[in-house]
Amino acid sequence: MIREGLTFDDVLLVPGYSDVKSRSTDVDISVKWNDLEFDHPVIPANMKTVTGGEMAIEVIQSGGLAILHRFMEVQEQVDIAEDIMDMGGMNRFAVSLGVKDKDKDILARFVDVGVQMVCIDIAHGDSKHCVDMTEWMRKTYPKLTIIAGNVATGPGADRLWRAGADVVKVGVGPGSLCTTRIETGNGVPQLTALMDVAQAQKNLLALYKTKQDSRQFPIISDGGIKEAGDIVKALCFADMVMMGNFFAGCEETPGKVHTIHGVPHKEYVGSSTHKANHIEGVSAWVPCKGKFRDVLTKLLEGLRSGCSYQGAHNLEELRDNPEFIRITNAGLRESHPHDVIVR
Ligand code: XMP
Repeated sequence: MIREGLTFDDVLLVPGYSDVKSRSTDVDISVKWNDLEFDHPVIPANMKTVTGGEMAIEVIQSGGLAILHRFMEVQEQVDIAEDIMDMGGMNRFAVSLGVKDKDKDILARFVDVGVQMVCIDIAHGDSKHCVDMTEWMRKTYPKLTIIAGNVATGPGADRLWRAGADVVKVGVGPGSLCTTRIETGNGVPQLTALMDVAQAQKNLLALYKTKQDSRQFPIISDGGIKEAGDIVKALCFADMVMMGNFFAGCEETPGKVHTIHGVPHKEYVGSSTHKANHIEGVSAWVPCKGKFRDVLTKLLEGLRSGCSYQGAHNLEELRDNPEFIRITNAGLRESHPHDVIVR
């Protein structure tokens, strides 16, 4: 049997009865992972043209989780971590690592300067490399918060959680500049991937509850978000969302500016393009968007509004039995502005 896979544009949330009085004051979009707390669930991608030092500081100041990209010298990353330590932002800051032996030495340098959170970030996280690295990290640094990924299935997420990951990152091929699905034929449409991983999370939570363990097994949905509406759909299953394209055009990202037909654009480059012999992404340009803070504020308004249509006062309530409806191409067309010339 071949299962059907769905993504954000295939569905809509059915609005539900709501007693939310005000979207701005009556919807709490904060996220709690045991003793960590974030004011919102949006993470700019740990990509070379998205989250460098300047962007990381902005994200931390917005109350979010900043995950620094790893396509720079280790010393530069250490320097950024030290700056963030000085500003007291370490509990909202993570560095990215691969799964090679050299990454273990790099981690030791990060831990030395007070890094408390890492993101093991590889294209195929449901692999022995990633499980072994996660187990090693958990054993070597028991207090470290470990985000691991990426996976696209329930069993894949389950393997990483059991290996000791605190958080699992989900997404194989949904990214706006990913070519993984085209080049390898592999991937799972993002909404289906999230639903499967959320089911694995539920199963594991039930198991650990009987062991009197307070682990939460959070999920980060990574890639494919185009608008605030997609965030609302993703957060029906995930705890946080990671977005590259949406933030690549912000002033604080490291990308170069280039004018195309008189319009300023910033470069947005697929992570796999930095690696030799492993091209599953493209380099692109996205329009400049202004300050991260302004872009984020608008996005979070959409998220709060989406919660209020669901009668959800917080993100936990949003995840409580959302009702989706499958739509057709005609429904998708109807969902966008149509039969008008947008001014
Ligand atoms: P969006 O849709 O927000 O997605 O632009 C960002 C995510 O895309 C992933 N990513 C890649 N995937 N090849 C891939 O297959 C690449 O070169 C690549 N670069 C980034 C990554 O998960 C990111 O967060």
